[in-house]
Amino acid sequence: MASGNKPVLVTCVLMLICVTFSSGVETDISCLKAFKGAIEDPNNVLSTWDFSNLTPGFICRFIGVECWHPDEDRVLNINLADFRLKGMLPLGLANCTSMTGLNLSGNMLFGNIPNNISNMLPYLTSLDLSSNNFSGPIPRDLANCSFLNVIKLDNNRFSGQIPKELARLSRIREFSVANNSLRGQVPIFKNVNISAKSYAGNPGLCGGPLPRCK
Ligand SMILES: *[C@@H]1O[C@H](CO)[C@@H](O)[C@H](O)[C@H]1NC(C)=O
Ligand SMILES: *[C@@H]1O[C@H](CO)[C@@H](O)[C@H](O)[C@H]1NC(C)=O
Ligand SMILES: *[C@@H]1O[C@H](CO)[C@@H](O)[C@H](O)[C@H]1NC(C)=O
Ligand SMILES: *[C@@H]1O[C@H](CO)[C@@H](O)[C@H](O)[C@H]1NC(C)=O
Ligand SMILES: *[C@@H]1O[C@H](CO)[C@@H](O)[C@H](O)[C@H]1NC(C)=O
Ligand SMILES: *[C@@H]1O[C@H](CO)[C@@H](O)[C@H](O)[C@H]1NC(C)=O
Ligand SMILES: *[C@@H]1O[C@H](CO)[C@@H](O)[C@H](O)[C@H]1NC(C)=O
Repeated sequence: MASGNKPVLVTCVLMLICVTFSSGVETDISCLKAFKGAIEDPNNVLSTWDFSNLTPGFICRFIGVECWHPDEDRVLNINLADFRLKGMLPLGLANCTSMTGLNLSGNMLFGNIPNNISNMLPYLTSLDLSSNNFSGPIPRDLANCSFLNVIKLDNNRFSGQIPKELARLSRIREFSVANNSLRGQVPIFKNVNISAKSYAGNPGLCGGPLPRCK
């Protein structure tokens, strides 16, 4: 009888260990669940994201997900370019609390960049939303994501002015907003010269490498 109970006990102990290990990073798991739940995925790329497994680091083997450490469920980057994904940027991404890179280039995503993006993803170093269908203004709050090196927003439908506050992003080395409907003065970054090509296809932009603003 006692020996019959042993596997149960072992299972319980293993489950406790798993639960303990994964609890610190529950947030990152819920981030990916929210992402999958909010995005239309005609090619079923995200159907391989299986949340029934609870081995520490299971999300690190999901397509498009990179973790800080392979056996810890803490998301470093999400790279899901060119998958025909459709939908709005899910607010639940905020639960990937230590994410540094988001690349959703070449999908069919739409809607605004949330105007509290810096509260959602404060550690972003690279944001690539190029070649989607995003619209609305580029939020001033993006300037509060102070670690940003790369911002690629080209080939969308962004409109309005580029917030001048972006110029205070001291680590920027790549910035592209080509092919949108932006207007007004371009930001003047201190440590890099952005070429006119990065601003092309926005008839209303001026300043910097473009003709002077009137
Ligand atoms: C983050 O995840 C928790 C559960 O882990 C959930 O209650 C909360 O609503 C999520 N936050 C966002 C912004 O989705
Ligand atoms: C995003 O992914 C695409 C496709 O893999 C790649 O060409 C592009 O360079 C990536 N963007 C960044 C900022 O690394
Ligand atoms: C972008 O949105 C427009 C208008 O809603 C639509 O006609 C177009 O097909 C969309 N393009 C992509 C790539 O999703
Ligand atoms: C961004 O920074 C400015 C200036 O410090 C602050 O007023 C603003 O509230 C910040 N935005 C968010 C969403 O925290
Ligand atoms: C961002 O703003 C939305 C409302 O626009 C709110 O629901 C969400 O909780 C905010 N996220 C963070 C991380 O502040
Ligand atoms: C802007 O759009 C044009 C026409 O679709 C394209 O040829 C060009 O490569 C785009 N520029 C950038 C920088 O993406
Ligand atoms: C930007 O261009 C100006 C004028 O050509 C030049 O003096 C400056 O050194 C350049 N800055 C960088 C960071 O390349």
